[in-house]
Amino acid sequence: MPLTRKAYRAAILHSIADPAEVGIEASYEYFEDGLLVIDDGKISALGHASELLPTLPADIEINHYQDALITPGFIDTHIHLPQTGMVGSYGEQLLDWLNTYTFPCESQFGDKAHADEVADIFIKELLRNGTTTALVFGSVHPQSVNSFFEAAEKLNLRMIAGKVMMDRNAPDYLVDTAESSYVDSKALIERWHGKGRLHYAVTPRFAPTSTPEQLTLAGQLLTEYPDLYMQTHISENLKEIEWVKELFPERKGYLDVYDHYQLLGERSVFAHGVHLCDEECARLAETGSAISFCPTSNLFLGSGLFNLPMAEKHKLNVGLGTDVGGGTSFSLLQTLNEAYKVMQLQGARLSPFKSLYLATLGGARALRLEDKIGNLQPGSDADFLVLDYNATPLLSYRLKQSNNIAETLFVLMTLGDDRTVQQTYAAGTLVHQR
Ligand code: GUN
Ligand code: ZN
Repeated sequence: MPLTRKAYRAAILHSIADPAEVGIEASYEYFEDGLLVIDDGKISALGHASELLPTLPADIEINHYQDALITPGFIDTHIHLPQTGMVGSYGEQLLDWLNTYTFPCESQFGDKAHADEVADIFIKELLRNGTTTALVFGSVHPQSVNSFFEAAEKLNLRMIAGKVMMDRNAPDYLVDTAESSYVDSKALIERWHGKGRLHYAVTPRFAPTSTPEQLTLAGQLLTEYPDLYMQTHISENLKEIEWVKELFPERKGYLDVYDHYQLLGERSVFAHGVHLCDEECARLAETGSAISFCPTSNLFLGSGLFNLPMAEKHKLNVGLGTDVGGGTSFSLLQTLNEAYKVMQLQGARLSPFKSLYLATLGGARALRLEDKIGNLQPGSDADFLVLDYNATPLLSYRLKQSNNIAETLFVLMTLGDDRTVQQTYAAGTLVHQR
């Protein structure tokens, strides 16, 4: 018998496959009057309330929601904790934006009090927006990661993070060395990787800020520990790409730099990839690497439009990223609102079920965690959301006109934001209540 058992009754929706592979109808399960049963923080049953209720003991506690939709928790595959205080910084594109705003803001994270304060704000903001798992960049300071993991551990969240490695082309006050980045990353891995639901990501910022020696050591770390993640940026901005060519003239292109240092693989997530070519997409797919699609950032920093159909053609794993603070919202609903427009500007469509996939199961697959998160299959961690159809007067009125779950879902993604997230559960525990 489980020690704790709870049940949640509402409309329930989750992705079970990529619509690009199986078609839209086979990509999801929807229960208009559904029941989700949680035993000791894991999902033990999902189905129609009428079928499941008779199988349960009469005294089980049931939380029943009207006008609400239960979905898996959202997965943010790219976000920067130390950029929380600089979201919405005016007027620059990537390289000037980094120098003008980002590096000064990140310089404060060697200070424990500051790192603790921002980690707390950052995690509350994730949960308020329904994000239950994120792949997180810290700053160059190990303290940024320690503060984050300490706060995440208290709430038993499934989170992935790493200390930025950067040993050149950044201000003196913010660089490490190849050797110190290796030693500091190793200490963080020993302390946190595999502890509870936490995982470590080796985090070279991007090719221009690492020497060949540092990239070599990043690759070495990946071979020394099983199941480590690797996160970095790629092909976001045209000037950035030119700069990489100047710094690594001996390599075929941007991706080839990372490939050469053995940073591609099944747990490698590359943010942006706005300007990747066909050959690079094929190589990413071949190595099982993933791309994090960050539409609010790509628009805000004027970087360009991500070509999702090309990624699909190559069967490349794609997750969704907010990229705060280049991105402008912690909300994956708002991020999908912008993703839709990025597709529209390219004459393509983004169906609401593909959007749901990107924010949940697609993210889980990019992180190789689809057996644990990103869907509501029995056996999964009970990381889920209650989305409120009456979150705002306009949403409430608009959804009363909706004819089906596809329309409801699309409207939630267009009008929805943090206000839409009524409750967030992590491993079966309520971690946010609006
Ligand atoms: N490339 C290198 N560093 C960064 C960063 O902090 N944000 C974004 N969007 N791109 C980067
Ligand atoms: Zn980023």
